[in-house]
Amino acid sequence: MEKAKKTVYSGIQPSGTFTIGNYLGAMRNWVPMQDQYDCIYAIADLHALTVPQVPAELRKRTYESVAMLLAIGIDPQKSILYVQSHVPAHTELTWLLNCNAYMGELSRMTQYKDKSERQGKNIRVALFDYPVLMAADILLYETDLVPVGDDQKQHVELVRDLAGRFNQNYSPTFVLPEPYFGESGTRLMSLQDPSRKMSKSDENQNAYVSMTDQPQVIRNKFKRAITDSIGKVQYDKTSQPGIANLMDIYSSCTGRSYEEIEKEFEGKGYGDFKMAVGEAVVEVLEPIQQTYNELIKDKANLDNLMKENAQKAAVRAQKVLRKVRRKVGLVG
Ligand code: TRP
Repeated sequence: MEKAKKTVYSGIQPSGTFTIGNYLGAMRNWVPMQDQYDCIYAIADLHALTVPQVPAELRKRTYESVAMLLAIGIDPQKSILYVQSHVPAHTELTWLLNCNAYMGELSRMTQYKDKSERQGKNIRVALFDYPVLMAADILLYETDLVPVGDDQKQHVELVRDLAGRFNQNYSPTFVLPEPYFGESGTRLMSLQDPSRKMSKSDENQNAYVSMTDQPQVIRNKFKRAITDSIGKVQYDKTSQPGIANLMDIYSSCTGRSYEEIEKEFEGKGYGDFKMAVGEAVVEVLEPIQQTYNELIKDKANLDNLMKENAQKAAVRAQKVLRKVRRKVGLVG
């Protein structure tokens, strides 16, 4: 049976305050997709646990993540927005998929290689298994499209391998998902070192702009952003990576092209440009922050919403899980 709308599934870890890098590069693209697709968005709290977490912090950030996704325009009337761990089918399918996943293919995941190096001697089993949990997320909802950044592309490939193998070994069960790259894959860089990705875990707070930074803080961070000594606003990633990054941010916030920006700041100094970028970011974030501040105050409302959405998700996930259980020979 042809579905009326394709299903889109994506997840985000509640592992820190979101930055404008997360927002402009990924989360923002989720909003317009809601009109075109059947969208399911998850707060991947179980994925966050693959690295050590402070329990109270994780709990707090889970609420904050839900509130922030609502604030940017994820609409639970149109989409499902839920917390991964609220739907036990995820962990159950992870186990069943584990029984058909190979050590070799998981060891080849570059994210695992990078992250396990940082965990030192005591590497968590869960970190190794992370992509299988991600496969369970995606496969439980008969997902067609997975909007992801470059760093998750290899994981989506693995999901296809696992699903294809299962379909082969048993009989057609899973829909094979495809990665989906939005129109603009703006990958924002650190404001202090444009050779590094903008990251919420950067020890230098001036390197990133958090979605909840106060306007004055945002303006100051842009004032301090690293530029160069060339003194001309033009898009050249190699010789002017700092300016190129600021142009990306400005372009994302205002919709203006690089040429338009170059014209706008012809003959003007970096000071003016940086101030304008800061102002553009403030303009985008202010209405989001207002909504967010209202939402985060009302925990009962967020609890309700999480519960309702988890129920909706669980109904869909159960349908697929039941099929898988039967195919592998579990009773009932
Ligand atoms: N692993 C993803 C990340 O850290 C988050 C995630 C969890 C996800 N489950 C997913 C993304 C399913 C896409 C689809 O970015």
